[in-house]
Amino acid sequence: MTSRNKTPAAPVPHAPSSFPAIRMRRNRKAPWARRLVTETTLSASDLVWPMFVIEGVAKRIKIDSMPGVERLSVDLIVEAARDAVRLGIPAIALFPYTDPKLRTDEAHEAFNPENLVCRATRAVKAAQLDIGVILDVALDPYTSHGHDGLLIGEDIANDATIDALIRQALVQADAGADILAPSDMMDGRIGALRQALEQAGHHNTQLMSYAAKYASAFYGPFRDAVGSSGFLKGDKRTYQMDPANSDEALREVALDIAEGADMVMVKPGMPYLDIVRRVSETFKVPTLAYQVSGEYTMIVCAAEAGGLDLDKCVLESLLAFKRAGASAVFTYFAPHAAKLLHGAGA
Ligand code: PBG
Repeated sequence: MTSRNKTPAAPVPHAPSSFPAIRMRRNRKAPWARRLVTETTLSASDLVWPMFVIEGVAKRIKIDSMPGVERLSVDLIVEAARDAVRLGIPAIALFPYTDPKLRTDEAHEAFNPENLVCRATRAVKAAQLDIGVILDVALDPYTSHGHDGLLIGEDIANDATIDALIRQALVQADAGADILAPSDMMDGRIGALRQALEQAGHHNTQLMSYAAKYASAFYGPFRDAVGSSGFLKGDKRTYQMDPANSDEALREVALDIAEGADMVMVKPGMPYLDIVRRVSETFKVPTLAYQVSGEYTMIVCAAEAGGLDLDKCVLESLLAFKRAGASAVFTYFAPHAAKLLHGAGA
């Protein structure tokens, strides 16, 4: 009546464990066979399209260090948002090129409800498109010194910066931004922003925290695009993370989730896929990654030099983010990749 009466499972005769019983290539023998067993997929829904906004009407200005990317005036941002919707891209991220005359030590323009990103957000929202607008919360496009926070003496003052970030975030939320993405790396800002948003009645404004943002040299072209590079004094290593650290990224992410982040971000992307993997596996929260400006430029320039197939490298690089566990990817290739994914060519 007990287990003694049970016949043990017979061992499978000649359990196949090696070649030639096992030939890994069988599952790769044809396109359909490969599709059948594919572990990761990439679609336009996985992409966020970052855009640079400038003053003016019907104006587009090339960015020398990012071939193929242009700064767009607000009216053209709305057109680009329409393109994004047509391409199935769920969200855009807007970054301003601020008139250097408007940069101050205290980043006043960040709190102006009529600043470029607020106007662009209102214009996109007025078009009633099914698309999310993401705005960066950080002071670097507005400071005379190019830092993300307020400089007091030699120091980026954490707590004073948080007060400024709250003012910035509230004008952005009032303008209709769907997702606020603090990219400043001050301590405690997610909790403070969440509380301020709740108090102001912005209960549904999402916070996408750049939780693990590294002090990276791959941001070079972006700083050119937003006009910060000429202004930046020193570097950002007292607030952005040391590229040598990985456990620290988990602490940063844990704190931001506890403080009320809806999603977290790892940045840069390709050189940090190990961090994307650890964060997504550990926390099981939406984990975004940013294929930053320098990564974009590397791929474009290598293709222009004749060394890479642009289309294939774009899709392979984005798929790698998904394989590492990213829920979605910020990429300047978003429209190009979406066209490729729809089979329309780019
Ligand atoms: C600024 C910010 C940066 C990027 C996004 N937000 C640059 C920086 O931290 O210096 C970089 C994006 C890119 O390189 O594409 N808060």
